[in-house]
Amino acid sequence: MTRLSKQVEDVAFLSWARPTSGTPEHIGKAAAAAITQGLVGGYSENAGIVRLREAIAAKLKRDNNIEADISEILVTVGAIEGLSAAVMAVIDPGDEVLLFSPTYSTHIRQVVIASGVPVLVPTVEENDFTLDLDAVEKAITSRTRAMIVCSPNNPTGTVLSEDELRALAELALKHNLVIITDEAYEYFVFDGRQHFSIGSIPEMKERVISCYTFTKTYAMTGYRIGYLHADAAWLPQITKAHIPFAICAPVVSQYAALAALEGPQDCVVEFREHYQTARDLMCKRLDGLSSVFSYRKPGGSYLMFPKILLDEGKDSMTFCKNLLFNGRVSATPGVAFGLGGESHLRLSFCVSFDEINRAFDRMAELYG
Ligand SMILES: Cc1ncc(COP(=O)(O)O)c(C=O)c1O
Repeated sequence: MTRLSKQVEDVAFLSWARPTSGTPEHIGKAAAAAITQGLVGGYSENAGIVRLREAIAAKLKRDNNIEADISEILVTVGAIEGLSAAVMAVIDPGDEVLLFSPTYSTHIRQVVIASGVPVLVPTVEENDFTLDLDAVEKAITSRTRAMIVCSPNNPTGTVLSEDELRALAELALKHNLVIITDEAYEYFVFDGRQHFSIGSIPEMKERVISCYTFTKTYAMTGYRIGYLHADAAWLPQITKAHIPFAICAPVVSQYAALAALEGPQDCVVEFREHYQTARDLMCKRLDGLSSVFSYRKPGGSYLMFPKILLDEGKDSMTFCKNLLFNGRVSATPGVAFGLGGESHLRLSFCVSFDEINRAFDRMAELYG
């Protein structure tokens, strides 16, 4: 949609899952200072600079209830490289990996590129895209090796409860599976919900790899910096993938990340408050188009996944092209998130209130 959008002038953009607010100033200044101090010309340790891993260990204890030694932390090129390296480390060719559909399409590709087999288990839209645990267990075969759990979720915005995440952990223990988590949106949960990390469950220590990022939390998309935590026994295997993928995460970004963790955290609260208000605005505007879309109110992230009620919505790609070329609104077709996503579109509310209103004014005109 980004490429197609270039053909249209003055598009209202709801199709990017990246924060459109700027990176907080003190983080950029720390990156610039690291450059002028000559700290960033070489590689760092493969696992990341020690001070950063110490700050990450403190964050994991404070916010995720995970007791981590720095030997269990790997600084990665965003969450994406951590997830890719984790999948590479965990699965052998032909191993099955459970994903919950609709799913972030990159997770599917990470499994495929590691010669694994993605197995999509549908979520239950009527229950806010939560899991059908019986269906999850039924999908487990003798070849199942792992599941990827993304909460808060892209594309649905669903936040799995602690009980649901503990139930997945039980399944992993019962069937000898590894859980790889994608906690990219950990700080963006709304209405008093709490983010829960499976990595905090002591019995799961040896079978969970938890992946995090600075991209969303501190609006640091272009810095390409994230990290993972896993039992020390996993680290040599994960590092076997991390070195050929990256050698180490960008060193300048590691200094920026250190400043993000050590500096004031008000920006994180401000982002969350903005996203929650933006979500409420988007829901209100969707209510005004109730003959066109139905939706589940997302509990987190900055994304939502309305269902298109119109006949032409059965093909979400055609619907989104029409919306772009005739309505000048860019949204992501649901089919991009696996077949379970067809007849939907993904809307991002990590934009200004004006942008949301502009997009919905145009949709009201097109479908009103
Ligand atoms: C669920 C999820 N995981 C990971 C990423 C990418 O994270 P990073 O920039 O840290 O690689 C995204 C970006 O949209 C995402 O939505």
